[in-house]
Amino acid sequence: MSNRLAIIGYGTVGSGVYEALIEKQAKVEGLVGNFSIPVIVVKDPDVPRKVSSSTIVTTDFTEIFKQKVDTAVEATPDAETAYPIVKELLENGITVITANKELVAKYGEELLYTAALKNCRFYFEAAVAGGIPILTSVRHALKTNTIEKVEGIVNGTSNFILTKMRDEGTAFNEALKQAQEFGYAEAVPDKDIDGWDAWYKTTILSHWLYGKPPEWQEEKPKGIRDIDVRDLHLADVFGGRVKHVASLEGTKAAVEPRLILADHALYGVEGVNNGVHVQGSISGSLLFQGAGAGKFPTASAVIEDIVNHWTNTAEAEPPQLEEEVKPKEAETFPYW
Ligand code: HSE
Repeated sequence: MSNRLAIIGYGTVGSGVYEALIEKQAKVEGLVGNFSIPVIVVKDPDVPRKVSSSTIVTTDFTEIFKQKVDTAVEATPDAETAYPIVKELLENGITVITANKELVAKYGEELLYTAALKNCRFYFEAAVAGGIPILTSVRHALKTNTIEKVEGIVNGTSNFILTKMRDEGTAFNEALKQAQEFGYAEAVPDKDIDGWDAWYKTTILSHWLYGKPPEWQEEKPKGIRDIDVRDLHLADVFGGRVKHVASLEGTKAAVEPRLILADHALYGVEGVNNGVHVQGSISGSLLFQGAGAGKFPTASAVIEDIVNHWTNTAEAEPPQLEEEVKPKEAETFPYW
């Protein structure tokens, strides 16, 4: 492995990954040996960016191939932009690491299949619960357990808004504006507040844990758009808090606001934090909690994927496939 990295997209996630890799270069090189970032692909080359002169900043995607990159971080804003890029990279044997949950929820099966065909990898720890290494934890550290139930606050923006409204009386739109300024919200924040972001993350968790899509209890998620401050104060009267919760009981899934009482594991998960409450068959109740959105928590999860890849310490390789295996047979392989 030559450890040559491309970054595609230089918004909150892309710049966070670059800055943290440069800041922690000595630590990363202690783990992986030398690495370089020969190219960053951007939409607008004229925006000023503090990037080393040895890194080409370009709008030309093909520079990735010219620079003989082996690994790419995909940090574009949505699934539609990301899909053709990621597909082409994987087709060319370049490993891709993403935080893009919509991409993984919609195209994960196919992209994992392509990666397996082309002997490269597709990683997405950062796509669920930001800085919390939840995917790695449930696979690596809870192998023997059956995960009976997951309940999570997995959208940092919604949790931030609900907390601000309740504690500071901040108006919904003002709290959303702050979440955007802090870099928590999606490019289209409707995906956060209408529950789609949590829906995508729940889809990924269901595939990851059970190898199957969720069996949704409703046709679409319920978000937090219609919650007002009186609902939050009423919840207080009942000794609880309104939280936006994604749940999986087996593959039975729901995404909706819920009244969470004070003795529930998720009650104290506040602000931009995410909390994932996992019921393991041996471990019992476990709570994973931490920053679920934002520049460096997300960069942390991306960088751990990069380092695990470059040190061959990632979760087991998917099966190596023969070129002649047809895509329609993909579902018979346990990619997730
Ligand atoms: N917009 C997402 C959130 C970012 O607020 O949780 C992290 O996935």
